Amino acid sequence: MKRLSESTFSSRERKTQDKRSLNFKSTTSVKAWVSISKLKAIKKGLLTLHTLELMAQNIYKFQITKKPTELNRQLIAAMCNEMTHYQDFQVRLFEFGFKPGILRWMYWIVGFVFGFCLRLLGKKAILKTGIWVETKAVQHYAELLSSIDWDEDSRRIIEKDQSDEYGHINRWKNLLESN
Ligand SMILES: [Fe+2]
Ligand SMILES: [Fe+2]
Repeated sequence: MKRLSESTFSSRERKTQDKRSLNFKSTTSVKAWVSISKLKAIKKGLLTLHTLELMAQNIYKFQITKKPTELNRQLIAAMCNEMTHYQDFQVRLFEFGFKPGILRWMYWIVGFVFGFCLRLLGKKAILKTGIWVETKAVQHYAELLSSIDWDEDSRRIIEKDQSDEYGHINRWKNLLESN
């Protein structure tokens, strides 16, 4: 199998990784201008995104087999990108002084079961379900963006991750068409 190279990742994903370190801000400054009334909704939104990204990375992780195929290469890249999303929201939670949800292990299990069952069903099921799951993710991101009064930095992170999810839809659509 080809090693994961720079070309495996879209330019957007590379930017995500390059700029990841820029997300780190002093915890004291993050809350400074966010009103108390907004914090509850922001916390709920970040916890939702954090757990869903944990599930997303596991779905891809447990679809990967040992075969040296293009599908596996793309699944590894997608898993890596979901890991950066998970990291984005975990960092943001701690920057706000929040903690990750204690029940997030349930999302880990759902992702594992989902991913493992799809691996057994084969490539077509993986690709078709990938398109469906990522479309749901984009919709979920849109709902959270419109329903919560996010601070500027969090909104920018969420919009960036949502655009990555669009990239995943296109990735699986292209692979399905070339199948
Ligand atoms: Fe994601
Ligand atoms: Fe995704």
